[in-house]
Amino acid sequence: MKTVRIVAIDGPAGAGKSTIARMLAERIGLMYLDTGAMYRALTVVAQDRGIDLGDESQMVALLDSSSIFVGKSEVVINEEDVTTRIRSQEVTLGVSTVATLPGVRARLRDLQRKWAERIGGGVVEGRDIATVVFPEACLKVFLTASPSERARRRVEQIGGDLLEVEAAITLRDQRDMSRADGPLKPAEGAVVIDTTGLSVENVVATMADLYRKNCG
Ligand code: CDP
Repeated sequence: MKTVRIVAIDGPAGAGKSTIARMLAERIGLMYLDTGAMYRALTVVAQDRGIDLGDESQMVALLDSSSIFVGKSEVVINEEDVTTRIRSQEVTLGVSTVATLPGVRARLRDLQRKWAERIGGGVVEGRDIATVVFPEACLKVFLTASPSERARRRVEQIGGDLLEVEAAITLRDQRDMSRADGPLKPAEGAVVIDTTGLSVENVVATMADLYRKNCG
């Protein structure tokens, strides 16, 4: 069997996962997968079609009849480029409902594992990557930061009112941490890095060192 070398990164919104995962992947020469983009893309199509986001059988049927592509810089579902749309507030509000559905999670995890098998490994980020999708990853990192710092970063990225963004992030964290299937939490053996006050470069360098030690 092919060796599948995985760096699994989990953590709450605004902890720096996407930026750090992308830069780390480039530095260590692996591909990068944003699994949140898959949940978000499915949410876009469901909202377009007026499907109840909490209706598991309809959501699973929708997923089974859809094709999702998450690339380095674009996200395409059923041939529509939704790269920008997946970041809308409407999608951000709806996605954690979709993420509670075990049937959806099982299928998306399957796609994530196939992606890694096909290309022989990668840097994968999300909420359940080290706990469920790739518990055998050679490096597991849980990235976090204080809620106010995470809200500040989001406002810098996409704008909005600081207090409102913080409240929305806190609500999504609670939903992500309390669901039965794949709740957000540090995996066994994960290195927890609090990025509050740390530069991106600092975190990427630390992780690249860990990668060399653990995955070499
Ligand atoms: O970018 P941000 O951290 O705000 O979120 P994201 O990574 O795009 O993920 C959006 C939502 O998808 C999360 O709040 C989770 O509810 C869900 N998700 C998940 O349940 N499992 C994953 N592996 C990735 C995302």
